[in-house]
Amino acid sequence: MSFPSSVRLVEVGPRDGLQNEPEPIDTATKLALIDRLGLAGIRHIEAASFVSPKWVPQMADHREVMNGLERREGITYSALTPNLKGLEAALECGAEEVAVFGAASETFSQKNINCSVAESLERFAPVLERAKQANVRVRGYVSCVLGCPYEGEIAPDKVAKVSKALFEMGCYEISLGDTIGTGTPLKAKRMLEAVAKEIPMAKLAAHFHDTYGQALANLYAVLEEGIAVIDSSVAGLGGCPYAKGASGNVASEDVVYLINGLGIKSGIDLDALAATGHWITQTIGRPNRSKVGVALSKK
Ligand code: HMG
Ligand code: MG
Repeated sequence: MSFPSSVRLVEVGPRDGLQNEPEPIDTATKLALIDRLGLAGIRHIEAASFVSPKWVPQMADHREVMNGLERREGITYSALTPNLKGLEAALECGAEEVAVFGAASETFSQKNINCSVAESLERFAPVLERAKQANVRVRGYVSCVLGCPYEGEIAPDKVAKVSKALFEMGCYEISLGDTIGTGTPLKAKRMLEAVAKEIPMAKLAAHFHDTYGQALANLYAVLEEGIAVIDSSVAGLGGCPYAKGASGNVASEDVVYLINGLGIKSGIDLDALAATGHWITQTIGRPNRSKVGVALSKK
């Protein structure tokens, strides 16, 4: 049990955050947000989602976003692609990394992507194959790793099984999603231990939502286990349109403050990040859910 010396933050605010807004946010604001996050030192930004605009209208401008990016050196701009149709569109827009997203819960899989877990894996196989041909890396998400809005408790071995399938299919990293934020630290540790029996810790990421205010505690627990990749969302924006009541991801500012305090490096400028969180929440008229962001903006 020891903390990693550095952590890579994957900023998911422009996707996981803005996908949940009641009204779509204009493309120019999304692009400004993404650029400000990059300038604050974030090196991996999930910028868009190539899903059906009927299912998630907030992400309908995925092409405009990916084509409009001011691509800065050293930054990965990734996008969600649930199927080949999404992948082909993302490739046309120059995506250098994409993500497929599955679940450890059957019911959530049906509600989120309209197919069973087994069918989702069948859909992802050609996505991984085509991405490989195009030299594009694929990340794999597993949702509901610490609970499901429809099924309740999810056994760690279910999480391990889907994660292993995605990893063996060629996903370079598996992001473990506490989609509805019901996890607690011991549960998070046990789930991670089950997954880490199948996949090296260095290939795993923690993607925690903060619905019950446990996300930072859960992160502390998995950092102790050796997790070194954390997904977060500036100002704690977001939720999931297919997980009613789920609040946003853990706030990026709060994560950076936590890891700074632990002496873990991230390369991120906390003041610039907090200013970005303040700016986006003011611009879209939403509350700033980052306690650190709010405290710093009052200074
Ligand atoms: P489907 O209806 O089963 O698919 O949807 P289909 O192949 O039968 O196609 C139906 C229609 O969608 C057709 O259009 C297709 O062209 C279109 P129509 O003929 O009706 O006009 N379509 C597409 N359009 C654009 N891009 C595409 C695409 N694919 C089909 N890629 C599908 C299956 C997956 C597309 C649908 O269920 C969907 O879009 N779901 C969205 C799910 C979503 O975005 N959820 C939120 C993200 S996941 C998340 O937030 C969790 C995460 O953060 C981790 C965590 O916290 O746990 C990642
Ligand atoms: Mg999420």
